[in-house]
Amino acid sequence: MQNLNTALITGASEGIGRCFADIYAKHQHNLVLVARNNDKLQQVADEIRAKYAVDVLVIAMDLVPSDAALQLFTQLQEAQIDIDILVNNAGMMQVEKLYVSNLQQLNNLLQLNVVSVVNLTRYFMQAMITRGRGKIVNLGYIASFMPTPNFAAYGASKAFVLSFSEALAEELRGTGVSVTCVCPGMTETKMLSHADGLERFIPGFLKAEPMQLAEQAYKASMKGDVVFLDKLANKLVVQWATHYPRWMVRSVNGLFSRFK
Ligand SMILES: NC(=O)c1ccc[n+]([C@@H]2O[C@H](COP(=O)([O-])OP(=O)(O)OC[C@H]3O[C@@H](n4cnc5c(N)ncnc54)[C@H](OP(=O)(O)O)[C@@H]3O)[C@@H](O)[C@H]2O)c1
Repeated sequence: MQNLNTALITGASEGIGRCFADIYAKHQHNLVLVARNNDKLQQVADEIRAKYAVDVLVIAMDLVPSDAALQLFTQLQEAQIDIDILVNNAGMMQVEKLYVSNLQQLNNLLQLNVVSVVNLTRYFMQAMITRGRGKIVNLGYIASFMPTPNFAAYGASKAFVLSFSEALAEELRGTGVSVTCVCPGMTETKMLSHADGLERFIPGFLKAEPMQLAEQAYKASMKGDVVFLDKLANKLVVQWATHYPRWMVRSVNGLFSRFK
């Protein structure tokens, strides 16, 4: 078992990231928690310190600006905190047709879901390789495997994350550093409840409970799995999306998107 002391979790103030914080602390990793809302992060840190005997450092920061990853990396270097596990969890979704979407929000989405994931990985992986141990966990989506009309940019950002993670996993083979892309389906968090009515089309049995997802994803990463899907239904959807012709998959998704 590798000695992986400290996990950096982005988007840890709520949702899946909040659950990751709990799960990593339960497994005795010290934590660095990042999100924008300092009060929420402090509350998470207090709850975790009271429950588990681990160190928790909170860094309130917006990861959208292009220099955010460097700032975070520099801050942790100055504090002499080595990051053994990087969980790139922070993300945002935009559910609307591209031609009516707010361009600033769209660019923020790409910056957060894509650019900051690449930059944080690039900054923190070097020391992991030098130490010969480390884990990188990226949040994809089942939509990483197929086009998603009505949230085209979000789906494409998650397709990027999957492709990036798989390629990186091969680049890092033999270094002691593994990469896991966690690809959940619909998961019961604020992201889903704020997704412009999308939630009401999703039957209950398809929705994942975020704490369960985080625990399963933790185990998958520790085992070194490269791609993790959490539910049988999600595995079937992905089987369908990857085994049928692309024209058919996109047409079926297009048909569903027109019901809305
Ligand atoms: N929920 C789902 O159905 C689902 C399915 C598949 C994949 N995912 C992915 O799982 C990840 C977590 O999703 P979630 O459902 O837990 O989302 P969520 O409930 O909306 O939580 C998002 C987290 O990211 C933080 N965050 C948002 N914008 C940020 C920014 N600019 N800088 C720093 N932190 C930021 C938020 O905190 P602050 O607001 O305090 O910054 C919050 O802690 C995302 O990558 C998402 O795409 C979710």
